[in-house]
Amino acid sequence: MKVMKHLAPTPLILAASLLAACPAAAETPKNAAAMPVEMQQMMKTYSPELRKKVMALSPELKGTIQQLHAGHTRRAKETTMRQIMHEILADYQAVAAALATDNAELASEAARRLANHRIPKGGLLAYFPLDKVNDNDLGVLPAMNEIVEGNAIKLADAADAGDMPKAASYMSDIMTGCVACHQKFRPAAPGVSANLISPLAR
Ligand code: HEC
Repeated sequence: MKVMKHLAPTPLILAASLLAACPAAAETPKNAAAMPVEMQQMMKTYSPELRKKVMALSPELKGTIQQLHAGHTRRAKETTMRQIMHEILADYQAVAAALATDNAELASEAARRLANHRIPKGGLLAYFPLDKVNDNDLGVLPAMNEIVEGNAIKLADAADAGDMPKAASYMSDIMTGCVACHQKFRPAAPGVSANLISPLAR
């Protein structure tokens, strides 16, 4: 018994130190690389102000942004986010037209294209107001993404299954996500005039 008691801690300690070593080992390269390669490339195109903000993001948040970019297979060369937003709107409208005309194939195709929208020149971060480029505000992005793109995929799946009423039901979920993201990240209503004396009501 005494010997057992004496020996017993050894594997425990071993296991404990292995467990302790694993997260540490996983963290070292992450910290060393500091940032995913695609983000490093994008950083080179950022203004000093934006670069500073992005450097200050937590490794977790940087990973999240990288994942959001990596989840999209199409990259724009010169296209801005606003232009891509118009592509997204065109796809959304195409889905609406497809649903209204019982065209399941177009509904599915346009919804999937919306979900896999192109990533603008410089990535998403370049187009958010600087004061929103922080862990707290950007932390909602995966949720926004899920509401818009997750529901677009569900819509496409329903259309593929021939269930058009179900497909149609996701349209308002998707638009709820568009509106939520605009409330948070779009600097102002589009096209505000600098030549009007009284600013917009909101
Ligand atoms: C990740 C947040 C986010 C989501 C989700 C999002 N948008 Fe946007 N959208 C923006 C931002 C930020 C701008 C302003 C970009 C700029 O002006 O540089 C914008 C701009 C736009 C514009 C250009 C006109 C304007 O307001 O400046 C359109 C059109 C648009 N979005 C449509 C949509 C539609 C449709 C959806 C949903 C299918 C959607 N957006 C989802 C963030 C988002």
